[in-house]
Amino acid sequence: EYLAFVLLLPFVLASIHVLASGLRAWKSGSPRLPPGPKPFPIIGNILDLVGNQPHRAVSKLSKTYGPLMTLKLGSMTTIVISSPDLAKQVLQKYDHIFSGRTIPDAVRALNHHKFSMVWLHPTSSRWRNLRKVSAAQIFASQRLDSTQAIRRKKVQQLVDHVKEICNSGQVVDIGGATFTTSLNAISNTLFSKDLADYCSIASHEFLEIILGAMEEAGRPNVADYFPALRFVDPQGVRRRLKIYFRNCFRTLDGIINERLQLRASSSKGSHASSDVLDSLLDVTQEDNSELSRDDIRHLLLDLFIAGIDTTSSTVEWAMAELLRNPEKMAKARKELEDVLGKDEHVQESDISKLPYLQAIVKETLRLHPPAPFLGPHKAEIDKEVCGFTVPKNAQILVNVWAMGRDSSIWPNPDLFVPERFLEKDINFKGGDFELIPFGAGRRICPGLPLANRMVHLMLASLVHYFNWNLADELKAKDLNMSETFGITLHKAEPLRAIPIRFG
Ligand code: HEM
Repeated sequence: EYLAFVLLLPFVLASIHVLASGLRAWKSGSPRLPPGPKPFPIIGNILDLVGNQPHRAVSKLSKTYGPLMTLKLGSMTTIVISSPDLAKQVLQKYDHIFSGRTIPDAVRALNHHKFSMVWLHPTSSRWRNLRKVSAAQIFASQRLDSTQAIRRKKVQQLVDHVKEICNSGQVVDIGGATFTTSLNAISNTLFSKDLADYCSIASHEFLEIILGAMEEAGRPNVADYFPALRFVDPQGVRRRLKIYFRNCFRTLDGIINERLQLRASSSKGSHASSDVLDSLLDVTQEDNSELSRDDIRHLLLDLFIAGIDTTSSTVEWAMAELLRNPEKMAKARKELEDVLGKDEHVQESDISKLPYLQAIVKETLRLHPPAPFLGPHKAEIDKEVCGFTVPKNAQILVNVWAMGRDSSIWPNPDLFVPERFLEKDINFKGGDFELIPFGAGRRICPGLPLANRMVHLMLASLVHYFNWNLADELKAKDLNMSETFGITLHKAEPLRAIPIRFG
């Protein structure tokens, strides 16, 4: 990759030179951009962000330049928002102007961006239809209630897996185990099938495909900063993502074909199953349906990529925080015992009775939002915000990571204090702009209702059934909490803990 970059550098310089002269010509009437660090010629501020902690580097710059800041990432103008007030303007007041997306080159693989809910423009009828269909057929509370038993079963399998580990005295990789659970909880919610098992993470093809696709999609790509280079795909990111997408579609097509055969072979109306895939296939058969089979496969791919890791990583961070704060773990366990009794199974319907557990999840998402900049938004037109111009086609990043750690919003922001949410009535559903890990406005995460259930259910089960010690005789205060930036903000060192069974 680096060799390719070096070989292509002269070409980069030439194309940027053309771009720069264009910019100079245009500059006489240039808009008043928000302040920001002085960009270098050609590369802009890229060097300011090099390393695996760009969210921290950007947050530090915002402390100097303010909550509305301009960065030049190669030739791309990027505006960084890092205050709740500005986030409200961008995501709510001027939602119609800022809810498009800048499209990373990699997701053009197999034309994914033309079918994908994540990347389509919100004024397109396809995006609207996908949001409408998934809200009604997947994420509506009635639909989620009807599939809760299946997720309960998947979480019970996680508990059984941990019990086996207890018996053998081994260590649990919490992120790895909850990744498998999230994957199976989502695949079973969608089409009643497991796609992974706990035996060996590396052995399962679909899991490997999803992990590989996420790694590619989260990789910084020089073609995004210098669009003139797109056609050569200098790091090969698009090429590799295409292979992952193709393999993923092979599995999904197999599942869809099998279901179509089952539906065809059962006499009309007698096909009793009614999971999400059935409902989606029913929609494709309606008169003048706007949903095609292609839409379904790209939608399923999106749901896996957007839903699994965000969910499991939240549980991993929550467990890491609880292991560092044993008194909070004990408090959460006591609440579970008081509400459920010692032996009762946790259910999704119990979540509303567990305010401290909910506060733990909010506090975890405040400190460790899986998408620290949300998805990349885009300005449709030049728009004046707070006396500055956000220029047409600029990329907009909403830095929820910085907002979560802002001491003017949160006292002692670096401390894990779930109690702050018992005192303040704040939720993450898009109305309280100081806590928007799922975004807000029309582009808010459509999977929020499912994520909310899965995170609480997994976390409650891990806390309710087991006591936990850190592996390798690590002291709680020595637990490494550093992050790795990627498609989700991960714990850099996987959390390894030893479960101890009660009773
Ligand atoms: C979009 C967060 C779980 C599906 C998003 C966005 C965020 C987010 C920040 C982008 C919002 C924006 O750009 O303004 C989270 C978090 C999760 C989670 C924190 C778990 C803790 C899920 C789940 C699913 C899902 C479980 C589905 C199974 C999606 C999709 C989009 C999205 C399809 C794209 C929506 C669009 O652009 O129109 N999510 N998400 N997410 N999420 Fe989630």
